[in-house]
Amino acid sequence: METVDPRSLRVWRELEAEAAELRDVPLGTLVAEGSDRERRLVLDAGLLRIDATRQLVRARTLELLGELARETKVVELREAMFGGGHINTTEDRAVGHVWLRAPRGGAPVVDGIDVSSAVHDVLERMAEAAVRLRDGSWTGVTGERIERVVSIGIGGSDLGPRMAALALEAFGHGGPEVRFVSNVDPVDLERALVGAEPARTLFVVVSKTFRTLETLQNATAALAWLRSELGEGPEVVARHVVAVSSNVEAATAFGVDPANVFGFWDFVGGRYSVWSAVGFALMVAVGPEGFLSLLAGAHAMDEHFRTEPMDVNAPVLHGLLMLWYRTFLGAQTYAVLPYAERLALLPSYLQQLTMESNGKSVRRDGERVDYDTGAIVWGEPGTKGQHAFYQLLHQGTTLVPADIIVVAEAQAGPERHHDLLVANAFAQAQALAFGRDEASLRAAGVPERLVPHKRMPGSRPSSVVMMPRLAPETLGALIALYEHSVFVQGAVWGIDSFDQWGVELGKELADQLAPFTTGERDVEGADLDPTTARLIEWYRSWRQG
Ligand code: F6P
Repeated sequence: METVDPRSLRVWRELEAEAAELRDVPLGTLVAEGSDRERRLVLDAGLLRIDATRQLVRARTLELLGELARETKVVELREAMFGGGHINTTEDRAVGHVWLRAPRGGAPVVDGIDVSSAVHDVLERMAEAAVRLRDGSWTGVTGERIERVVSIGIGGSDLGPRMAALALEAFGHGGPEVRFVSNVDPVDLERALVGAEPARTLFVVVSKTFRTLETLQNATAALAWLRSELGEGPEVVARHVVAVSSNVEAATAFGVDPANVFGFWDFVGGRYSVWSAVGFALMVAVGPEGFLSLLAGAHAMDEHFRTEPMDVNAPVLHGLLMLWYRTFLGAQTYAVLPYAERLALLPSYLQQLTMESNGKSVRRDGERVDYDTGAIVWGEPGTKGQHAFYQLLHQGTTLVPADIIVVAEAQAGPERHHDLLVANAFAQAQALAFGRDEASLRAAGVPERLVPHKRMPGSRPSSVVMMPRLAPETLGALIALYEHSVFVQGAVWGIDSFDQWGVELGKELADQLAPFTTGERDVEGADLDPTTARLIEWYRSWRQG
């Protein structure tokens, strides 16, 4: 599909002019636009509601952004994605995470694969294994039931199931305890194994490529830990190790019983893979029913994204707003502030989703972009963040648009805590938007010398994303909302949101440097830049003691 240079469009210049005009209009004035604003900016998408009325936009801005999306062919790219087109152009791959959550029969045949049957066959095998782990009929080599499941993976092979397992910890009681390991720092594995016994532990090795250094190193250490107590027999791996990979050959070569390998496909990007067998440990944690509800929630958002008109389409609105701030108003970062402790890992999950997808500076046609793309996404749960970094959000010199995520149902008693939590979320959104002016400070008797310090400028945009409860179906919808928002941004910018070439060089260099940090090779005489050589020498001198 032809890539449009968005900057060459007339609407781009109109948006630049719109940004210049709106910069100094107080948010309070924009909000006073009235009921039409509410119609355009309060959207229900399935169980989720987004209230974006406190965004620095007016009706004309939304019309221009809509036109930009139309002219950059967002709809055509969306159709191509759902239809199996190779929209991941640099890797010449289809992009099919949406098919992982479609009901049977709801996915196309792609590159000769009957995607729907393939996806549902794996789902059924996963469910069967998860049930056996949960009911204790999957036993280890000594005949004891599995009490700890440790998922080993990194990046997209870790963050999704890890984030969702915490988010949904109130669901699916009764199965084994599920832990996650990703860092090659041995502390990570060590901590995941505290209190675990080899005879009652099962590892899930998750790696799309089955080539990732951290994961293979951790998997090797896990095997050694199992074998140190259970012996060398092949049945140890067969009963205590499951693998998830699109490289089934490499997983079986590692020794995993083919019956315990759950495959997925090249058309599933790592950061879009929680819906696949990558989520196996999550399925063990919440049970197959919970996992299927997560998929159903995401599918409902897919349908909304695919079928709703652009001007009432929640992911389209979300994506265009993020793009508006990043590209036209110069915001470098975007904060995600979940007012739910169990969504504590959502910001880091979204960091990978958005930054690995849209942290690009070359378009699909190979041209360098001359506009800003992917924002830095960050955040912490409220109310903790309020006492840490919100000062900068309110009075700093940087524009930080934010999503404030609110769950209606209390996650634990006493309910009063929850009401206070929500009051804080709404209060922050209010303070960010409207601030406090000098007149009201003076009227409240604030001494003159403190008035400039206490003035709150306001006009800091945020959306409130509301979820009736924190449950598999709402979480699925929430993640899919962000996935499609990222898609919309990437489509307008004309970049390939589904590759990640920028992480390769570091991996290659780490492989080259490993023999020096391990001491197998000597720095002296090696072809290393002086800084790296000095760093390694310092490191080795301490390492050797
Ligand atoms: O380093 C980036 C990356 O390729 C991610 O995109 C991916 O999710 C992660 O590494 C893990 O890769 P794998 O699943 O192949 O081990």
